[in-house]
Amino acid sequence: MQSEYDNKIVRMWVYSCVTWALAAMLAGVLAAFQLVFPIMNADLSFISFGRLRPIHTNGAIFGFTASIVFATFYYAIPRLLRTPMWSRKLSLIHFWSYIATIILAVVTLSMGYTQSKEYAELEWPLDILVCFWWVVMAINVFMTIAKRQEKHMYVAVWFFIATIVTVPVLYIVNNLAVPAGFLKSYSVFSGSTDASIQWWYGHNAVAFVLTTPILGMMYYYLPKHTKLPIFSHRVSIVHFWSLVFLYIWAGPHHLLYHPIPDWAQTLGMVFSLMLIAPSWGGMLNGFLTLTQAKEKIRTDATLKFMLVALTFYGMSTFEGPMMAIRAVNTLSHNTDWTIGHVHGGALGWVGGMAFAALYYLVPRLWNAKLHSERLAEIHFWTATIGILVYVVSMWVSGITEGLMWRAVDAQGSLQYPDWIEIVRALKPYRLARALGGSLFLAGFCIMLYNLYKTIKNAGSGFETSDLREGAKA
Ligand code: HEM
Ligand code: HEM
Repeated sequence: MQSEYDNKIVRMWVYSCVTWALAAMLAGVLAAFQLVFPIMNADLSFISFGRLRPIHTNGAIFGFTASIVFATFYYAIPRLLRTPMWSRKLSLIHFWSYIATIILAVVTLSMGYTQSKEYAELEWPLDILVCFWWVVMAINVFMTIAKRQEKHMYVAVWFFIATIVTVPVLYIVNNLAVPAGFLKSYSVFSGSTDASIQWWYGHNAVAFVLTTPILGMMYYYLPKHTKLPIFSHRVSIVHFWSLVFLYIWAGPHHLLYHPIPDWAQTLGMVFSLMLIAPSWGGMLNGFLTLTQAKEKIRTDATLKFMLVALTFYGMSTFEGPMMAIRAVNTLSHNTDWTIGHVHGGALGWVGGMAFAALYYLVPRLWNAKLHSERLAEIHFWTATIGILVYVVSMWVSGITEGLMWRAVDAQGSLQYPDWIEIVRALKPYRLARALGGSLFLAGFCIMLYNLYKTIKNAGSGFETSDLREGAKA
């Protein structure tokens, strides 16, 4: 049965993941330096901050994150259901139409074509392409589920299904638009309705692209790699259903004090606070599984990055609900604090789990021992220190920014009416963020070299130890 599994498609997704990760992070680092040294915009429209930013966010979310998620779908789903994917042809159509979309996204965004909706910037022809390959993938996955040999559907599969079903619903509704030319369209929604739909989408993109599939990855790789059962299956089921139910209502926390109904804002705040419970349920379930193999963490790259991922997941899912409290949001909204929160989740949780997955997959897919655990250790430290520098500098910057915006003198006039004065005050923290991001990127490049050397040894044999399963396991 094992030989029927299509590892080639998983390898293709691994290449896609590292390519887009590199591109997105280079764009992120350049954007971070541009915010400190505007001269780095170089008077070139296609790399100006306004164009680079959506290239970075789309590249990181729909390039880097989506690719490692799809690599996991094609690796884990056949193994969990004990049957190969339903159609190799559909797997290939999915891959190549996805690659075409991402290339066209980079080209059109750098030319300035955008719907001006965050995380939904792509113009309508590309939206249609996204829907096409998503449906192709969904058909392939659901047909595989239908012909499965394993009756029991393990919780990781539930997390994957939640992603596959919810993302197209969000994507299609938020992108409903009237075309007004080949690369120009107008949203069918307007005003505060448009904002509400946009943040119902934006927030749930966080939920169903940056959270549920990543939890599915944790539930697959962690027990497989440690060969230990997950700490509690009951908790995994309870937190799955409560997480997907609660997330969908929390979007209005992006629109606190905006002209949407007050009850909707309160709803968003309350559901965000309730989200701590299922988020921490998942985090603790992961931690308690990981601690059963704690003596291995020091020497194993996959487990090290799981530790990073779970720590930052716990942190950002505590911080997020706090930021959703109205009084806190008056200080944090639109400041660098939000950017710090985003990257605690993006670099720590998503990045950490993606690296854990790559260290798990590459030796198995190429049947070779990881070139160097020592380099993986260096990657671990550069990434961890990089994330901490990034997040802490953004906390300081964001709180400084929020306090300066609201500071008033004895007469009640703004103390810093001159915007640029505030921007100047934030420069040192933003420089620290750019350096933290560069460190994170440097760690990533070390991993690339390590994986490249591993792949060069393809076929040399994947060493089995008490932790590692054999190539055929
Ligand atoms: C080398 C690492 C990275 C650096 C230096 C970096 C830098 C940046 C910068 C400078 C911004 C714009 C901030 C602003 O407008 O004030 C940004 C935004 C963003 N980045 Fe990154 N980034 C990195 C990695 C990532 C990764 C891996 C992800 C996702 C998996 C990600 C997701 C985002 C998102 C979602 C935003 C938009 C945040 C918002 O609008 O609130 N970034 N990043
Ligand atoms: C319980 C879980 C979470 C809650 C309740 C939550 C809540 C929040 C809140 C209140 C904001 C600020 C909204 C604003 O003032 O504009 C925010 C922004 C954001 N969060 Fe979270 N968060 C959670 C977890 C996460 C995780 C795990 C990630 C990433 C992996 C993440 C990614 C983001 C992004 C990308 C934004 C910026 C959106 C934008 O303005 O562009 N969040 N979140």
